[in-house]
Amino acid sequence: MPRDISAMTNSCVVIPCTFMYPSGVRPYRGVHGIWYFGQPYPQLFPPVVFKSRTDIVHESYKGRTKLLGDLTQKNCTLQISNIGPEHSGRYYFRADLGGANMFTYPDFTELKVLDQPSIDVPEEIVSDESLELTCYAPDNCPDMSPEIHWMYTDYLPEPLFTTDYVEESNTAVLSSTLTFTPRPVHNGQLLGCRVHYPNTTFIYERLISLDIKYAPRSVWVNISQEVMEGSSVVLHCEIDSNPMPRISWHFGDEELSSDSAFNASLYLEDLTPVQEGVYTCVGENDYGSMNTSMYLAIKYPPREPWVNESLTVQEGSSLALHCSTQGSPAPTLTWLKDGELVGTITADELSVLELVEVTPQAHGHYRCLAENEYGRASSSLNITVEFAPIFLDDSKCTVVREGVQCVCMATGNPEPVIEFYLPDLNITINETNGRFSYYTHTDGYTSTAVIKLRGKGEQANNGGTAVHVHCSMSNMYGAETIRLELQQEKKYMMAVIVGTIGGVAVIAFIIAAVRYVGHNNKKENGNPGQDLGSKPENPSMFYSAVKKDKQSLRKKVLKTELLGSKFNSILEESSTGEEGDSQPVSSMASLERQELNYAALSFIRGSPRGRATGTREDSSEYTEIKTK
Ligand SMILES: *[C@@H]1O[C@H](CO)[C@@H](O)[C@H](O)[C@H]1NC(C)=O
Ligand SMILES: *[C@@H]1O[C@H](CO)[C@@H](O)[C@H](O)[C@H]1NC(C)=O
Ligand SMILES: *[C@@H]1O[C@H](CO)[C@@H](O)[C@H](O)[C@H]1NC(C)=O
Ligand SMILES: *[C@@H]1O[C@H](CO)[C@@H](O)[C@H](O)[C@H]1NC(C)=O
Ligand SMILES: *[C@@H]1O[C@H](CO)[C@@H](O)[C@H](O)[C@H]1NC(C)=O
Ligand SMILES: *[C@@H]1O[C@H](CO)[C@@H](O)[C@H](O)[C@H]1NC(C)=O
Ligand SMILES: *[C@@H]1O[C@H](CO)[C@@H](O)[C@H](O)[C@H]1NC(C)=O
Ligand SMILES: *[C@@H]1O[C@H](CO)[C@@H](O)[C@H](O)[C@H]1NC(C)=O
Ligand SMILES: *[C@@H]1O[C@H](CO)[C@@H](O)[C@H](O)[C@H]1NC(C)=O
Repeated sequence: MPRDISAMTNSCVVIPCTFMYPSGVRPYRGVHGIWYFGQPYPQLFPPVVFKSRTDIVHESYKGRTKLLGDLTQKNCTLQISNIGPEHSGRYYFRADLGGANMFTYPDFTELKVLDQPSIDVPEEIVSDESLELTCYAPDNCPDMSPEIHWMYTDYLPEPLFTTDYVEESNTAVLSSTLTFTPRPVHNGQLLGCRVHYPNTTFIYERLISLDIKYAPRSVWVNISQEVMEGSSVVLHCEIDSNPMPRISWHFGDEELSSDSAFNASLYLEDLTPVQEGVYTCVGENDYGSMNTSMYLAIKYPPREPWVNESLTVQEGSSLALHCSTQGSPAPTLTWLKDGELVGTITADELSVLELVEVTPQAHGHYRCLAENEYGRASSSLNITVEFAPIFLDDSKCTVVREGVQCVCMATGNPEPVIEFYLPDLNITINETNGRFSYYTHTDGYTSTAVIKLRGKGEQANNGGTAVHVHCSMSNMYGAETIRLELQQEKKYMMAVIVGTIGGVAVIAFIIAAVRYVGHNNKKENGNPGQDLGSKPENPSMFYSAVKKDKQSLRKKVLKTELLGSKFNSILEESSTGEEGDSQPVSSMASLERQELNYAALSFIRGSPRGRATGTREDSSEYTEIKTK
């Protein structure tokens, strides 16, 4: 008999069986046999499955068993019908040849009663590799033949079914093999095998869930992002693989995190520009690996640009000023000189401003401005240009009531030293002495020197027109000598008239002058209530020679003080007031904007004796008023 045999519940099974006995043994009154269940020994009273002498069998086999074999032919084949799970177990055959010739054979058949078919599933199913699944159904019941069908195969790619029938050691098995190539998408899918006996209602089913191994087949990460410096982001990665992958985030060569999971979040806080770059999420398992990258862009306002140090250059030299910065997006770089755009706007990391053969005008405050949509930053430097003295056109000699006054102005860096030279006397004047009153002042890079010659010119009594005064200016880069022109002005003539009319007229004139100056200042400031001295623009120097007696002078000075720091001295001027009372002798194109108000007041009568050194009552007096 077969060692093992199986059958579906409710079906039947035929246990093929043959036996032998020694040829010397003569059966007495026929050959009989007994099938026992569980135990071979009658003493232990095992359940009797079948007994040829009587019909007495164990209850659970009543009406179920039939001996198909012919015992006389030593054929003990047994059929058990309508079997149930309780019939699973060992079956022994005992031959009864009569008398003492009774013997239980040690061989047995183990019956397995199945309530569902079995499916042979490979231990490992790998995606994209051909897979064979075999479903088995025992076919040991001659009354009923099983049929096998596969279930849930509709969505399988090109499934192939082959049926096989295998007989082995007197038992038969029907099998059906399903062949297909699984894909990752089939992971977890249910498949079933159904066994059915035609013309019966008996159906047996077995379901399996496919466990298909596959390398990561998708790695999802966030799309590329643009974020502000200092902010935080969470980057997500999700991986589809079986089994669970090792998931890791990489930045450059660095592995930032790693875990065994289907998804991983990367937390990035307080981002800095160095964290800009490609972030890659890698998933790997035993079947392969896959990665996906995203780009994280860190935006930030421009950094304070780097510019050259302030420098001092000589006129005529050439230089290149560098400005560089970082920012994202790349900032534009702009050069401004004293607030005005110079050069071109570049969207490069470096902007070079070339100054070729600099002139004194190149002198100034240079600012490099870096801008992007997130902000702006700038750095500046000062360029100081050193240059030889330049003579200013406002230099001149004027006839004043008492003599001739010469003003010489020059700019230069370093500020020029100014001397006067009187060719007729062959003398050089650079300071006040007994004969000449000399005044010098330096304002930024502009030097002004004033000299007063007694009378209508020391050497020219013939109408005061032939004054020879040379002005020489010098600094370390050069020197220049200019002959000053004498200007005969209407204003002077008017002054003469005013002078003869007398003090009353002068006072009237002064009142007019004060009003005018006040009016002018109001206009300049645009707001009459404002402090007249607060406005630094349009700095000017005013010179005047003021005539008349001490009393009126005091009044004038007092009045002018009241005007505030933007001092305008009173000029000898027409009382018509049509041109105004204040006459700027020069309005300097100063390089440095700086407020300076200055006046020289002098008495016209009397002889100049320097700074109020005279002892005579009618000696001239000279004063300087400087306001800041
Ligand atoms: C035993 O009997 C069965 C049923 O009649 C038969 O199918 C089988 O062939 C017999 N076995 C042998 C060895 O004769
Ligand atoms: C099922 O029964 C029908 C008639 O009842 C019969 O023709 C057919 O052969 C049977 N099929 C099987 C497999 O026994
Ligand atoms: C990345 O994607 C996840 C899920 O969609 C989302 O919650 C997260 O905010 C995204 N991160 C960024 C920086 O957009
Ligand atoms: C990430 O995976 C865990 C389990 O591994 C799951 O509970 C969670 O919902 C997943 N999150 C996302 C966003 O997929
Ligand atoms: C990502 O995959 C590519 C090829 O698909 C490979 O060359 C690269 O090295 C991988 N990157 C990482 C970080 O694993
Ligand atoms: C400004 O700096 C750059 C870079 O250091 C240098 O090449 C250049 O000569 C400098 N320019 C001047 C005028 O010093
Ligand atoms: C440039 O000069 C101005 C005025 O003299 C000064 O306030 C400023 O600090 C200087 N800037 C630099 C960068 O030296
Ligand atoms: C001017 O004076 C200097 C000495 O102070 C003398 O050397 C020079 O010869 C004089 N020149 C003239 C033209 O008199
Ligand atoms: C004027 O010139 C003389 C001779 O060149 C010099 O010694 C003196 O110091 C100068 N004075 C001034 C105030 O510069």
